[in-house]
Amino acid sequence: MAENKPSSIEDSVLILDFGAQYTQLIARRVRECSVYCEILPFDTPVEEIRARKSKGIILSGGPSSVYEDGAPRCDTAVYDIGVPILGICYGAQLMAYQLGGKVSPSESREFGRAVLQVTDSSGLFAGLGKNLVCWMSHGDLVETPPEGFVVTAHTDSASVAAMENRARKLFGVQFHPEVVHTPCGVEILRNFLYNECGLEGLWTPASFIESAVKEIREQVGDGKVVCGVSGGIDSACVAALIHKAIGDQLTCIFVNHGLLRLSEADKVRETFKDHFKIKLVYVDAEERFLKRLAGVTDPETKRKIIGEEFVRVFEEHASQIKDANFLGQGTLYPDVIESGTKNAAVIKSPHNVGGLPEDMKLTVCEPVRWLFKDEVRKVAAQLGLPEDMVWRQPFPGPGLAIRIVGEVTKERLDTLRHADDIVVQEIKRAGLYRDLWMGFAILAPIQSVGVMGDQRTYDDTIIVRAITSEDAMTADWAKLPYDLLERISNRVINEVSGVNRVVYDISSKPPATMEWE
Ligand code: XMP
Repeated sequence: MAENKPSSIEDSVLILDFGAQYTQLIARRVRECSVYCEILPFDTPVEEIRARKSKGIILSGGPSSVYEDGAPRCDTAVYDIGVPILGICYGAQLMAYQLGGKVSPSESREFGRAVLQVTDSSGLFAGLGKNLVCWMSHGDLVETPPEGFVVTAHTDSASVAAMENRARKLFGVQFHPEVVHTPCGVEILRNFLYNECGLEGLWTPASFIESAVKEIREQVGDGKVVCGVSGGIDSACVAALIHKAIGDQLTCIFVNHGLLRLSEADKVRETFKDHFKIKLVYVDAEERFLKRLAGVTDPETKRKIIGEEFVRVFEEHASQIKDANFLGQGTLYPDVIESGTKNAAVIKSPHNVGGLPEDMKLTVCEPVRWLFKDEVRKVAAQLGLPEDMVWRQPFPGPGLAIRIVGEVTKERLDTLRHADDIVVQEIKRAGLYRDLWMGFAILAPIQSVGVMGDQRTYDDTIIVRAITSEDAMTADWAKLPYDLLERISNRVINEVSGVNRVVYDISSKPPATMEWE
């Protein structure tokens, strides 16, 4: 992860990570202020930090106490680099401790809403009121700030809720400006970034595209790039960016495994081939996948078969592209942060369903490795990708195969595709599509008795699943309005032949998962 920021990004800040669950959130907030930032481990050598020429540094929070053995500490030389530094929670405590102030372990953790009484509005609180709601989550507290610091805000339980050394431009806040529960948090960050660090907010989708195009050209030269596309936003954005940079030196491969949703394959072809005029190899592999899936009901076996087969098909077609030497990949910044090292960028297969074709000796080209998901969407929109694709809800690599409980057959896929399309259409019509992490249909391995007209039926069951989530780790079942559920149910039963029952999944994650398999 020691690689440099995108080459043409001049203005940036660094975030030193002390292990907080909120570090990525700090980075996202900074980027929302149109400022580029990167997260580095807390013990990054000071020479390396200096070499980045960033205009400011943020010390993140963290679960430790500064007095603990082995507590994470940055080099104290960081405070002498000469750029403004903002310590948040543990970062503020560490700043106080390392510069000679006093931090005291509090008897109990303070967790939740507090009212900040601002006593000095010249720095971080410029332009804000005197009483501000903020969100606290800490064990220790700064008791006495180091010499040269003034207290700029306090709360009922924290006498030093914010401190500043104006001469050295060092700032510390006990609360969390990055969370939404601190309503003026973004203003505070903006004051730090714009007023104190002198940043100009040059990080925009357009500036990113400009720098990414330059970098792709430098990396690829007159080489050739192969890129898998699936209809998902990450691979679509990568393909559009690479195409903008090197045009026909890019060939995209779209493997249709036959497990996609209604009209999805046509949409992908239309977008890349007709709209962007990208060289696209379209592989209709439906039969091949269905043959291998015949008779298989175990979820893990299904996933394994699809993953293996996908890589095989992709490889067969990629190896036919003469002189290809790069593989475009949709690695995102959270993957880079989590991988933690320069060389270990998490490798996603184009469909996220398997590994990379190993013996192809392709160098990866990862132009969105600096972006968070929400930034990928903005960049994709700026590049002109259709709204449907930009806002498409997540869809698993193994596709509808893991939404059919039991055997996957062409007939069952068609039933599910039809029902799923109705679910999505109605959710969109109700204006709820973007509020949900996912809303979709599942085909249950259950038949039940019904009555249609005067006829007894014994037909399939469709399960409707709709969830909200922030990060896919946890999720709540969505409280969809009854009239929407009613419309979905009526339409599915009336329009999808072979279905006579619709049920709604009211399980959250954990203990359930979002997908059924
Ligand atoms: P679960 O079912 O684990 O799903 O709660 C969490 C999110 O991950 C997606 N998902 C996948 N995405 N390949 C993918 O690219 C997969 O194999 C896969 N399995 C689950 C799922 O759709 C949800 O958004």
